[in-house]
Amino acid sequence: MAYRSRIIGTGSHLPDKVLTNADMAKLVDTTDEWIVERTGIRQRHIAKEGETTSVLAFQAAENALEMAGVTAHDIDLVIVATTTPDNTFPSTATKVQAMLGMENGAAFDVQAVCSGFVYALATADNFIRSGQVKHALVIGAEVFSRIVDWADRSTCVLFGDGAGAVVLKSVEAEEGEQVGILSTHLHSDGKLRDLLYTDGGPGTNSTVGHVRMLGRELFRHAVNNLASVVDEALEANGLKAEDISWLVPHQANKRILDGTARKLGMGEDRVVVTVDRHANTSAASVPLALDEAVRDGRIKPGDLVLMEAMGGGLTWGAALVRW
Ligand code: ACO
Repeated sequence: MAYRSRIIGTGSHLPDKVLTNADMAKLVDTTDEWIVERTGIRQRHIAKEGETTSVLAFQAAENALEMAGVTAHDIDLVIVATTTPDNTFPSTATKVQAMLGMENGAAFDVQAVCSGFVYALATADNFIRSGQVKHALVIGAEVFSRIVDWADRSTCVLFGDGAGAVVLKSVEAEEGEQVGILSTHLHSDGKLRDLLYTDGGPGTNSTVGHVRMLGRELFRHAVNNLASVVDEALEANGLKAEDISWLVPHQANKRILDGTARKLGMGEDRVVVTVDRHANTSAASVPLALDEAVRDGRIKPGDLVLMEAMGGGLTWGAALVRW
């Protein structure tokens, strides 16, 4: 017998305030047409003052715990994937742990920008596989609106705020049996860190910095890296693209989503898309999309779900899950 991670609850939370493309056009020299044609984004949610990453993360966590039918006291590991922590330290995860009233377990943050949720899921899965953890809470939460340069039209139109969470439960499975998270695959290439970065940091110039991006080059790497990590995940499990019930991709750009789906030969009817309403919420985008598709009944027990993401670092990864 072996330990496997089953996702028993999902949750998400978006700030109430919505900024449409028409609203963006009042802030910078852009148009709804340009944004929709290049990215598929129509609107994004923006956190209000005091609505920090931990506030969004806590709400998403509560929703996931409710669906899972467990309490915070059952959780022995909390991982928050974020690029926009409430403070440089301590971790946002410890803040969420306190907000949930947890008195046990360990909590820490994972930083892999837009790939953060997949990295955090892989980390939690490995804790469960080793037998160290029985229930894990994995959260992706961001207030990217606080680190974009609102005078730079080439980046500020792309991002939004939000949070998503999952509860993992350790279950016993026969060796080779397809239960829960089948495998996770992580990659990074630090040589490409200048394609997407902030021009500040606590250890560099004591500031947070703003997002800077070489969009065209990033686009090329995104489509290639995502296609290769998806192939890797399928091959590792002896599965084919046609076996995938739902692709739940990182929501950076509709054209990147379409490019990956096309390479897999998957129709739009099997791809979960939220980028039009959420924009790019970095580490929150995959669990936000996942929660939407679970709650509206698209993802059902027995489905094969493939999550993938790419972000600054560069980092990229995938997780294949039997629901
Ligand atoms: N409104 C109007 N015009 C704009 C805007 C805007 N918001 N932003 C840039 N432009 C202009 C540029 O100034 C440029 O004008 P010029 O030709 O006069 O110089 C023109 O539009 C074309 O700019 P490009 O940057 O070449 O446009 P491109 O077609 O590459 O689209 C985009 C830009 C959407 C950012 C695209 O490169 C992209 O999606 N890249 C991937 C980046 C991404 O998704 N990053 C998210 C994080 S990484 C990840 O999650 C995978």
